[in-house]
Amino acid sequence: MKKRVIIDTDGGVDDVLALILALCSSELKVEAITTVFGNVPVVQATKNIIRTLDLLCIKRPPVVAIGASSPLNKAHISAQDVHGTDGLGEIYRLNKPDGTPVYPDISLDRDVPCATDLILSTIKKYPSEITLITIGPLTNLANTILTCHGALKDVAEIIIMGGALNVPGNITPFAEYNVFADPHAAKIVLSSGLPIVLVPLDVTRSAIWNQDAIFATAQAIREPLGRFILDITGKVMDFAQKKKGIRAVTLHDPLAVGISIDHSLANISSIHVDVQTDRIETEGKTAPYFRAIKEEFKGQSNIRTIMNVDGQRFLTFFEERICKG
Ligand code: BDR
Ligand code: CA
Repeated sequence: MKKRVIIDTDGGVDDVLALILALCSSELKVEAITTVFGNVPVVQATKNIIRTLDLLCIKRPPVVAIGASSPLNKAHISAQDVHGTDGLGEIYRLNKPDGTPVYPDISLDRDVPCATDLILSTIKKYPSEITLITIGPLTNLANTILTCHGALKDVAEIIIMGGALNVPGNITPFAEYNVFADPHAAKIVLSSGLPIVLVPLDVTRSAIWNQDAIFATAQAIREPLGRFILDITGKVMDFAQKKKGIRAVTLHDPLAVGISIDHSLANISSIHVDVQTDRIETEGKTAPYFRAIKEEFKGQSNIRTIMNVDGQRFLTFFEERICKG
């Protein structure tokens, strides 16, 4: 039986790659996609998701719902320096030889559903069957918990790409972007007692998709999807080149989807994690309390987390699947 999933996303480059992975994987049935502010404003994130679904030409595409446009208790800080002003590597600038845009703007239907409603109704429709995969700031999930915590007892599992446990952050020295973007939401979610598996930077950093591999994979994918993957990854690679001296895309969000398909890609341990919200310098830091792993402290664990990943095994898994796109 297929695993039913909801993907909650902020519509950046690795988000779109995660979505492609999910939709190319026969083990998953993507029931819904909900969007949130983050890498880009929420309307742009929603357009990016709709564009990706259009390119995939799926017969019955999942419902898309729009979510939070800002964090619970701070201003929105985007990641447009990494993902481009449009969240997809500035593809809006690309023109055909006749001067018309390769990727024309998408207009949003006025009655796009609301993310929290769709999360709640999908869980209600499939009690104990839904895996919720969050690959953006945790605001939609926090809002769902605040609206109706009880309804979430029927979620099978929540897989969250976020946090930096024993490694430096990627937006501040301490914080990972998805948690930093809305630390108050992350605190509500991680202390909710829900069945969470965290996929932190500690492991996503081993999923490095380099330029040669991107070119080779894109060539093996049918058009226009192959071209799209090349077009959206260029700017992220420029950013990585400047920061780290390598031309590559880190597959943070696809790894979260990969874990939902195959838990054996990683080692999972119980742990207690707190999110820091009170001090500006360490805002969004996910502080692990490793003693919770010990048997006598098991009761204190609030989540499970991925500790190790075989990056190469995941890359092969990812490429094989998206080639079927
Ligand atoms: C996370 O931040 C975003 O920019 C990426 O899409 C990913 O979800 C990595 O820290
Ligand atoms: Ca993301």
